[in-house]
Amino acid sequence: MDNQRSTFGSRFGAIAAIAGSAVGLGNIWKFPYVAGENGGAAFLLIYIGITLLISIPVLLSEFVIGRRGQSNAFRSFLHLAPHRAWGTIGILELLGAVFILSFYCVIAGWSLEYVYQSAANGFEGMTQAQMDSRFNEFVASGYRPILWMAVFLCMNAFVLGMGVTKGIERCSKFMIPALFCILVMLAGVNLLQPGFKEGAAFILEPDWSAVTGQTVIKALGQSFFSLSIGMAAMITYGSYIKRQESLVSVSVIVSLATVIMAVLAGLAIFPSVFTFNVPVASGPDLVFKTLPPLFAQLPGGYIISILFFVLLFFAALTTSLSIMESLVAFFSDELHIRRISALAIGFGIIIVCSTLCALSQMPDSSLQVAGLNLFDWTDTFSSNYILPIAGLGCVVMVGWFVPKSTVEHELTSSGRYPLWIFRCVLFMMRFICPPIILFMFINGLVS
Ligand code: PHE
Repeated sequence: MDNQRSTFGSRFGAIAAIAGSAVGLGNIWKFPYVAGENGGAAFLLIYIGITLLISIPVLLSEFVIGRRGQSNAFRSFLHLAPHRAWGTIGILELLGAVFILSFYCVIAGWSLEYVYQSAANGFEGMTQAQMDSRFNEFVASGYRPILWMAVFLCMNAFVLGMGVTKGIERCSKFMIPALFCILVMLAGVNLLQPGFKEGAAFILEPDWSAVTGQTVIKALGQSFFSLSIGMAAMITYGSYIKRQESLVSVSVIVSLATVIMAVLAGLAIFPSVFTFNVPVASGPDLVFKTLPPLFAQLPGGYIISILFFVLLFFAALTTSLSIMESLVAFFSDELHIRRISALAIGFGIIIVCSTLCALSQMPDSSLQVAGLNLFDWTDTFSSNYILPIAGLGCVVMVGWFVPKSTVEHELTSSGRYPLWIFRCVLFMMRFICPPIILFMFINGLVS
């Protein structure tokens, strides 16, 4: 065990780093769209309810494992588990980290290419069709996405090389407030758009008729993904949270941050989509095809485009830092090597996997698994399989197999915070979360 384990230096630093992991591409391009398609404010309310009832207890179980275990995702499991077999869940989480980072870095690379293109005024006067083919050509070119992905990974390595406090924490303390300010500014510019009312209504007007059973399942999936559950990141960051810090309040603040940022992202994006009357989309299509020509037509479009892609880059960087840090912590703890050597191993693995993901998007690429190209497969496999299984493993272990006194100690920070909160959380960890996660997993398999 590492006796001199780093910790986040301040409360704000810890929250910024953890929120940095949570607020990522999922929040910016997926959450607002899913919310809009599934009843707007009705979805947001369901999302908040599900986050309180299920995701926060799961997140807390990851924090408990990390902070109590004081090690990487795998070793922390072993420190708390009654049997070595539980270590498998830790390994699964680390595998999820590799998968998710492999495609995440490629997309982050795209955002850097788009910062560059918007700075070179590349979107002025472009039609949607031209933008479509420009993006497709860029992705198919192979070498350009790989180049930008490598640049992005080098930035990760630079920040991580400086350590937890001086690297991750300092970077997040700057980037998360900056991200918030950019979102507020972009939403503010959109206020003047004729489509603002319609865009705002898309995510803020409750439409209960759009709510079905599937809505609840979507809210749960989105909430897990947004809170970076099941991919080693939160266990690793949990191990850096100071003993006296309240894990419960950190979880609630970070969850709230994901909702606020997602609503702001919606207000920054959808008014333009409705003003120019283009089809509403999500994911890469929305961000890399639909939006650039729309932004270019807004007053101050040049600056807006640059800011938007810088925002995307910041969101992706603070998220990728948490995932990469999980690998760095794992290699340095397990192989007893210096942080910098562990970083070199993590960097080596991810650059190979990300290159394969980028290459798998070229036309006629044979890099396919189960009928999907490697890029889509890593995304699907990590979100649909690893995330629910690992989340279930964490919550069951902490709820049922870790001594109650240990969980109480962590959730009340040694008696500093009220006991009733611990009792409620333990109840949810034991009786509410496991059946619901299991149901979500089976439902995902069937559909
Ligand atoms: N929370 C991140 C996002 O919304 C995704 C993520 C998932 C990050 C799992 C780390 C681990 O984009």
